[in-house]
Amino acid sequence: MTKIAVAGIGYVGLSNALLLAQKNEVFAYDIDSNKIEKIKNKICPIKDEYCEDFLKNKNLYLHATSESQHAFEDADFIIISTPTNYDEKTNSFDTSSVTETIKKARSVNKKALIVIKSTIPVGYTDFLSKELNDNKIIFSPEFLREGNALYDNLYPSRIIIGSHSTDAIKFAGLLKDCSLKKDVDVLFTGSGEAEAIKLFSNTYLAMRVAFFNELDSYAMAHKLSTKEIIDGVCLDPRIGNNYNNPSFGYGGYCLPKDTKQLLENFRKVPQELIKAIVYANRTRKDFIADDIISKSPKIIGVYRLIMKEGSDNFRQSSVQGIMKRLKAKGLEVIIYEPEYMSDNFFHSKVIKNLDEFKRKSDIIITNRFNSELTDVLNKIYTRDIFGVD
Ligand SMILES: NC(=O)c1ccc[n+]([C@@H]2O[C@H](COP(=O)([O-])OP(=O)(O)OC[C@H]3O[C@@H](n4cnc5c(N)ncnc54)[C@H](O)[C@@H]3O)[C@@H](O)[C@H]2O)c1
Repeated sequence: MTKIAVAGIGYVGLSNALLLAQKNEVFAYDIDSNKIEKIKNKICPIKDEYCEDFLKNKNLYLHATSESQHAFEDADFIIISTPTNYDEKTNSFDTSSVTETIKKARSVNKKALIVIKSTIPVGYTDFLSKELNDNKIIFSPEFLREGNALYDNLYPSRIIIGSHSTDAIKFAGLLKDCSLKKDVDVLFTGSGEAEAIKLFSNTYLAMRVAFFNELDSYAMAHKLSTKEIIDGVCLDPRIGNNYNNPSFGYGGYCLPKDTKQLLENFRKVPQELIKAIVYANRTRKDFIADDIISKSPKIIGVYRLIMKEGSDNFRQSSVQGIMKRLKAKGLEVIIYEPEYMSDNFFHSKVIKNLDEFKRKSDIIITNRFNSELTDVLNKIYTRDIFGVD
């Protein structure tokens, strides 16, 4: 049986490990020993229906370990899915966890194909391969959505592999073989091209969100119906009626950082649009915050810190950008967030009781509407026009 090690068991690592462990011996490795214990006990560390179900009910060849050597030695393939946070000082991703993990893996295993699934700057794979004199490192972008991580790997939109080597073709075969989709498009490209595909895909999605948000800003400013305009615009099949629900801004772990990274990759290439996609998100949050302030609330309630319905984390959620702007103007903000245990969030009080939160708030701002707010409709501030993500 093929042995695969996966390093970094977050949304990307866990879903890939579960996918591949249907038919391969998979060793899931993470520096977070709590996560490893949970997986050993079949408890899913993330909120994801398919991941929870697979862990609990499927017969998988899955082993979780905090011992990197145990995971890496003898592996035929090593997947790297550690974080690449955006570093505001260098204007680029911090790729140190990826580089360190690759070096660690290579020190105990010279033969495995190393597959980077973390999102990296364009040119990283080529640079690292040359620096380490190693021609068995490739990049394969990940396109999953949080909350649907395993589903999106079982039914992938496409599989992109940044290499044409025999081992790379074998790896694509493993992913395809474990998917449940009948015809999966598989594309083999150069490594820079695969890296660019990931950043351009996410920047396109951010552009679409920013576009419908600016449409909404315009409609608000001119007292027009956003819904009627979007309905009419999106009936054009070339535009399409999807991914068009206004929000406070694009957010989450990937879109904000991936757009900024692409802008950095454009440093020596003339462009206007990529910069505008990054800046449009700030302008939108300024507009929303000013609109909330214009209603003169004394206490502003923030309903949920999450980015979208069903999310289990607050990474770069757009409502936090709104909160920052409101607090900078000296306004009092209180929060309702059942996933957050502490009493304070960046000096704002967290109210555990929903009724108390509703009573205390003059206005309740929420990126997405939830039916538990139906009794306080007169206090709600949202730009969720269509009630979808
Ligand atoms: N979340 C998404 O929707 C998504 C989608 C596509 C691509 N990506 C990219 O994939 C990468 C991972 O994202 P994620 O959301 O899965 O992150 P995550 O934060 O959920 O998981 C990362 C995991 O890596 C572990 N880790 C950190 N340093 C490590 C090290 N040195 N060795 C071993 N484990 C280590 C952490 O403990 C954590 O469990 C990022 O580059 C991200 O941009 C994420």
